[in-house]
Amino acid sequence: MKNRLSFLLVMVVLGLLLLAACGGSSQEAASGASSRPEPPAAYAGISNPKANDSAAVTAGEALYRANCASCHGDTGKGDGPAAVALDPSPQPLATTVISESDAYLYWRIAEGGAMAPFSSAMPAWKAILSEDQIWQIVAFLRTLGG
Ligand code: HEC
Repeated sequence: MKNRLSFLLVMVVLGLLLLAACGGSSQEAASGASSRPEPPAAYAGISNPKANDSAAVTAGEALYRANCASCHGDTGKGDGPAAVALDPSPQPLATTVISESDAYLYWRIAEGGAMAPFSSAMPAWKAILSEDQIWQIVAFLRTLGG
């Protein structure tokens, strides 16, 4: 009788542990695919007015080559010539665009990496590139994904 009780107790404890473990991992999955911070209110929810516009993609590619490829690499693999000197290193944007929203991309290009939690060499482009130009670059970046 006593053995049976302690066996039951062990089973209950094991069951609870299992539940706790499963609960933990499903909570993680529910918190979203991206581990990156959400864009602040000023950028939240914006989307590319030039998405899938082939003229914008062409213009964006030229802007990307002139301004971004030195760090992020010609095809967005994070392997531009300047990348070796940087810590944190430039992201492989071809991968970034698979999981990230237009709002995130626009925010990061506009504001750069000077702020927390990034503290990186990523320049802020909002004083250099127009809103249209940033969206052209985003349209081009979308073609690198996959
Ligand atoms: C001087 C090197 C440098 C240049 C030039 C540069 N970047 Fe970056 N960029 C970085 C670094 C380093 C990071 C990674 C750290 C961070 O997220 O701030 C980064 C991060 C990013 C991110 C966030 C990626 C992610 O996965 O979260 C985007 C988007 C981005 N850059 C786009 C651009 C675009 C578009 C241009 C050109 C207009 C550009 N960058 C030019 C260095 C650079």
